[in-house]
Amino acid sequence: MAKAAKANYICQSCGSVYPRWIGKCESCGEWNTITEERVEAAPKGLGTAKKGNVIRFEDLKAESPDLPRAVSGIGEFDRVTGGGLVPGSAVLIGGDPGIGKSTILLQLVCTLANKNTKCAYISGEEAVDQVRMRAKRLGLANSPVDLASATNVRDIVTSMSDAMGSKAYDVMVIDSIQTMYVDTVDSAPGTVTQVRTATQELIRNAKRLGVTLLIVGHVTKEGAIAGPRVLEHMVDTVLYFEGDRGHQFRILRGVKNRFGPTDEIGVFEMAGAGLIEVQNPSALFLSERADNVPGSAVLAGLEGSRPVLVEIQALVAPTSYSTPKRAVVGWDSNRLSMILAVLEARCGVMMSGQDVYLNVAGGLRITEPAADLAVATALISALSGDPVPKDTVIMGEIGLAGEIRHVPQPDLRLKEAAKLGFKSAFVPKPAKSKNNKGASDHGMTVEHFERLEQVTRLFKKTPSRHEYEE
Ligand code: TYD
Ligand code: MG
Repeated sequence: MAKAAKANYICQSCGSVYPRWIGKCESCGEWNTITEERVEAAPKGLGTAKKGNVIRFEDLKAESPDLPRAVSGIGEFDRVTGGGLVPGSAVLIGGDPGIGKSTILLQLVCTLANKNTKCAYISGEEAVDQVRMRAKRLGLANSPVDLASATNVRDIVTSMSDAMGSKAYDVMVIDSIQTMYVDTVDSAPGTVTQVRTATQELIRNAKRLGVTLLIVGHVTKEGAIAGPRVLEHMVDTVLYFEGDRGHQFRILRGVKNRFGPTDEIGVFEMAGAGLIEVQNPSALFLSERADNVPGSAVLAGLEGSRPVLVEIQALVAPTSYSTPKRAVVGWDSNRLSMILAVLEARCGVMMSGQDVYLNVAGGLRITEPAADLAVATALISALSGDPVPKDTVIMGEIGLAGEIRHVPQPDLRLKEAAKLGFKSAFVPKPAKSKNNKGASDHGMTVEHFERLEQVTRLFKKTPSRHEYEE
């Protein structure tokens, strides 16, 4: 006879299930993430006794009404969600503890409530007084938001509907999912089973009623939403709140969105009175840039549909170790190794005896390959001691053969650079295709490059392999 519940060993990082305890998860490679959880025995299959109903299919071309969105008026948040919150959708907001998730959500519900949207804020972490105090500090104490401190999912689900059985709230914040528990599940709050079941229950009921759910999820140090990488597929939208606690900039990044574009970013500044929108991030990221310093290059980047100019800083110093140090902030360290290898193998620029430090100024994290050329230029400039020509922006992907490849939307990037007063640009040679009308130069001196060595030659003092060998 099958047991009702059995012990399973579940990885808290990726959700893999094992029949016994092991030290290292074979699926995600994490150590010490496997804990025992009691789970219900797997249900039996469908069997053949009872037939289901035939599904009613619908036409693809039939008209469906446009979803009316709840526009918050916090422009940067609306941009990331693709134009406001879709009613009945579930949004997961992930981020490191202390980064500002509770703050932004409180600001959001207060702004929405001031526009007659019925909002509830349920905190499992803070007492109602604490939340109230924060609202006061944010200058939003008079907003008609219902506050509660609760952790039992059963109670929360019951409070979602009113006496008539229809939705009691338009928007509900659950802060955070790691503190919530379902009383029929044995595991402790925060374990994969609890988090998964709680999310499922909350979403199922919210969808039934049409309540928009905003769920906070803390992120582990590896960057996955605690254990609940398993959560990402359950929700409609996943937003990550990023930033360095040492900097005041915070970036809200869309990584999944069933109702809009992903890869959009919203930029905020954490100030004394909460998070303030930053409408022109380029100006902010470049505000502290020093002119004529070797090792500094400005990338004409693109985040979603928005051009963002950022300063890439490189520092190169002779190493005192047998293996030189490579330290990267805000960029991918594997990508840096690749650029260093291309510089050495294709352009004869020797970096193997040098420690290399790379930093994306302002605390932004850049993922697009279009940053390659700016990084390479910053490195060459740092090594040669020659500053990058004044007022120049750079874009371009670098291939392993040392070729410079095209980037998406060069025109948009140049336009932003021109707007901020840049005079020249290093860009890849335009593609020879029929429908390429050629980018406008927006009044800037645009230099086209095909190969990385053309860029290294601009820096006359770059020590090459030959000089080392002589
Ligand atoms: P919080 O929203 O509590 O973070 P999370 O919910 O992601 O854990 O933000 C906490 C930090 O924000 C805290 O260190 C103080 C800072 N902060 C400000 O600088 N200004 C403010 O107005 C508020 C409310 C918080
Ligand atoms: Mg919080």
